Formats: sequence, structure tokens, C-alpha cells
Amino acid sequence: MINIGFIGCGNMAQALIHSFISSKAVKPGQIVASDKNNRQDFAKETGIATATNQEVVDKSDIIFICVKPQNIDEILGEIKDSGKVFVSIAAGVPTSKFKGMKIVRLMPTMACQVNEMVSAVYFPDNIPDDEKKQIRKLLDSVGKSFEFKEEQFDAFTALAGSGPGFFAYFIDAYAKVAEKYGFDSQVAFELINNTCLGTAKLMKEKSMDADELIKKVMSPGGTTEAGINVLKSSEIKKIIEETIKAAVKRGGELGK
Ligand SMILES: NC(=O)c1ccc[n+]([C@@H]2O[C@H](COP(=O)([O-])OP(=O)(O)OC[C@H]3O[C@@H](n4cnc5c(N)ncnc54)[C@H](OP(=O)(O)O)[C@@H]3O)[C@@H](O)[C@H]2O)c1
Repeated sequence: MINIGFIGCGNMAQALIHSFISSKAVKPGQIVASDKNNRQDFAKETGIATATNQEVVDKSDIIFICVKPQNIDEILGEIKDSGKVFVSIAAGVPTSKFKGMKIVRLMPTMACQVNEMVSAVYFPDNIPDDEKKQIRKLLDSVGKSFEFKEEQFDAFTALAGSGPGFFAYFIDAYAKVAEKYGFDSQVAFELINNTCLGTAKLMKEKSMDADELIKKVMSPGGTTEAGINVLKSSEIKKIIEETIKAAVKRGGELGK
């Protein structure tokens, strides 16, 4: 049975802790977390232990570093390298920052809370296979992890990390149109949200690509074709590409 540590217990760490516990990947007694605020309320609610940063390192087999990028130097000054494996979730911070440590880079997402976390993980050569397996198992207990090269992290962060923000914007625009047709805002939100969910599930579970699905719902001269024709003659694909490009560029800038 392995023990999992968290240095920094803010929004993302709490989401991961809640999710790992509810997925039964780990028991609360296997988790210890540190935080500047010493979050006793959170510890009480979840049943995890709290400790200082160094105690977290001493008591854990895998340690998640969940502080903001600007607090990484502070953390490195506070802990002794123990040869243990650390998993940094700090956006834009390269593994080269953690000189000589066994450091894994992870980009998690809040969707861990609904067991749909798409995460990117990068394992440098000094991470043994059994530790890789333990980390992948933990991540896959709350979604699906993908192993990528470190150079791909900015693109991943834009696509999957910022992605929910872009899809939410799209859902909102769609729901506002529904309101114009007289649906009340809650109904509009639910019907669009479920249309999105159903579409994604159909494509995933029936292994359908976009063209195939569009063909299935579009009959010649029908309603879908009328709408798709507007999309095709618009700049929407260019706008989506520019949106992602801007997020990738910003990710690169933040990492410097
Ligand atoms: N939120 C997301 O959706 C998301 C997604 C992917 C990756 N990330 C990454 O996750 C990291 C944390 O983000 P977050 O949104 O969870 O931020 P957050 O809510 O601000 O959490 C950071 C926590 O670290 C604590 N902390 C700061 N300095 C510390 C120290 N020296 N020792 C121990 N704890 C310390 C902070 O305590 P105080 O509040 O007392 O300062 C805070 O509770 C960031 O690097 C971010 O890039 C976040």
C-alpha cells in the first residue's frame, strides 16, 4: 500500500484528493497534505492527515507538488531531496527546474471530479517502471492519462486544460440562442449541455468520427444541412485554430 503526499492543498490538490478517494484508488489514511494555511477543515472533512512540507516528503511514496508556479522555488528551498518520486502539476514549469530530482510532470484537469480527467503525463528516463505504473493507475482511476513528450505540454494545456473553458463558452453561446426561442435559461442550459454530452458519448462509444456522425443526422435539404452550410461558409474553423494558437502561445510565455 503506497502513501500519497500533497505539497500545496488548494483547488487542484483538493479536487484530486476528493477524486482519488471517491474512486477508491486510495484510502484517506494513505494521504497526507501540507499547505500554508494548514487546512484542518479539509482534512477533517476528507479524513486525510496534514503535516509540514518535509513531513509530507518523509511520510509519502509519491509526492504531488501542487503549489503555484511562482511558489516552486520556495518549496525547493524547504524540502530535502529524498530520492522519492515527485509529480509536479505546476503549469508551464519544466522538469529541468527540479535539478537532480525524480520528477514527473503532470497536467491534470478539474474533470477528475466527475471521473473524466484527461491528463498529460511526462516521465523522464530516471523514473522506474513500477513508479510509472503506480502513477498511471492513480490517474486512470479518475479518467484517462496520456503519456506525452514534455514539448507537447503547452499544446496539451491549451487543448485539454483550457478546453473546458472554450467548450463552456460555446455551450453558453448556444444556450443564449435557445433563450431567444423562448426556452428558460435553466432548460436551455440543460438541453445544450446534454446535447454536447450525448454527441461526445456517441462518437466515443460508437467509435464514430465527425463526418460519419454528421452524415447520420443530415439528410439532403434538411435542417442539419441548412445549419452546417452556414458553418461551412463561415470562418469558424479558423477562429477555433486561432483560439487554441493563442492559448498555446500564452502557455509558452508563462513557462519562461
Ligand atoms: N486549478 C486548476 O484547474 C489547475 C489545473 C492544472 C494545473 N494546475 C496547477 O496546479 C497548481 C495549483 O493551482 P491551484 O489552482 O490549486 O492553486 P491554489 O488554489 O492557489 O493552490 C495552491 C496552494 O499552494 C499553497 N502554498 C503556497 N506556498 C506554499 C508553501 N511554501 N508550502 C505549502 N503550500 C504552499 C497555497 O497556500 P496559500 O493559499 O496559503 O498561499 C495554496 O493552498 C498550479 O501550479 C497550477 O498551475 C491547476
